[in-house]
Amino acid sequence: MKENSIRIILAPLQGFTDITFRNVFDDHFSGVDEAVAPFIPTMGKKKLKSSRLKDVAPEKNKKIFTIPQILGNNADDFIFLADCPHTKVANKNRGSGLLMHPEKIDAFLDIVLSRIKNTLSVKIRLGRVSKDEIYNLLPVFDKYPLKEIILHPRTGIQMYEGTPDHDAFEEARLLSRHPFVYNGDIINLTSFHIFQKKIPALRNIMIGRGLLSNPFLAEEIKGFQLKDNKINRLKDFHDDLFSGYQKIYSGPGHLIGRMKGFWSYLGPSFIKKEKSLKHIMKSESVHRYEDAAADFFTPGSEFLC
Ligand SMILES: Cc1cc2nc3c(=O)[nH]c(=O)nc-3n(C[C@H](O)[C@H](O)[C@H](O)COP(=O)(O)O)c2cc1C
Repeated sequence: MKENSIRIILAPLQGFTDITFRNVFDDHFSGVDEAVAPFIPTMGKKKLKSSRLKDVAPEKNKKIFTIPQILGNNADDFIFLADCPHTKVANKNRGSGLLMHPEKIDAFLDIVLSRIKNTLSVKIRLGRVSKDEIYNLLPVFDKYPLKEIILHPRTGIQMYEGTPDHDAFEEARLLSRHPFVYNGDIINLTSFHIFQKKIPALRNIMIGRGLLSNPFLAEEIKGFQLKDNKINRLKDFHDDLFSGYQKIYSGPGHLIGRMKGFWSYLGPSFIKKEKSLKHIMKSESVHRYEDAAADFFTPGSEFLC
């Protein structure tokens, strides 16, 4: 299968992949076909923050096609949000706790899917405590017209420990009538190839942390010719992201905090820049931050191999 027939979805990463990040990312890198936005918690209509809705407003998300994600298990609040003007929504039930209660998921989907106009995808793990929980969930999902199931094949209590279980993913996929999206630990070309060899039929993957630590990853997976110098491209990306956040955050604390999060993934991908990364993490003024960030983009800097 040609690698550029792979569909790559940017994962929702709360505090990282907001609208500013997604739009700036799209200005500088290619290969990402769509994104799921970080979750919006369900709340009564009145309590909903407008900034949450702005993040997924279609008119502001014209670059990467973005699917809003709603987190919560109150069906009425969910329906209110899901009927906002989008064509698709993704659902993540509050925590992975609900995975142990297929009957609650059944009741929730029954109400929600009979009342919303949008298509719905679900993003899940194999279970909360045991990988076997998925076997009780798949027949429930089969009853409803879901767009797709995004599966991160770990359990909830596993957090990010161990490795994603590719066999369990494939077994679940074959047992379900729905299309599946794979998610979990695709961090470089090697991990992509290991996964692809195991499940060659799968064309849809979601990547989160791998794209934060290597923004070229989707281009690499799709075999695009990398244009220009990586360091220059990263610098331009960084500068645009920084000025994008400068427009949003009034105080330096929030601004620098946001950028520190960004560097916590990107920084370790530079060769021998541990000291510069420490300087970034210690910086408290914009001036100090800018000095430390400039250190990553000096002539001779190297990014990955
Ligand atoms: C900092 C952080 C924030 C996250 N926020 C969300 C979120 O808002 N919604 C969600 O469904 N998953 C969230 N996740 C999980 C990711 O979407 C993804 O499933 C997980 O990181 C595994 O994919 P990866 O190995 O490609 O990063 C988050 C993960 C991280 C590390």
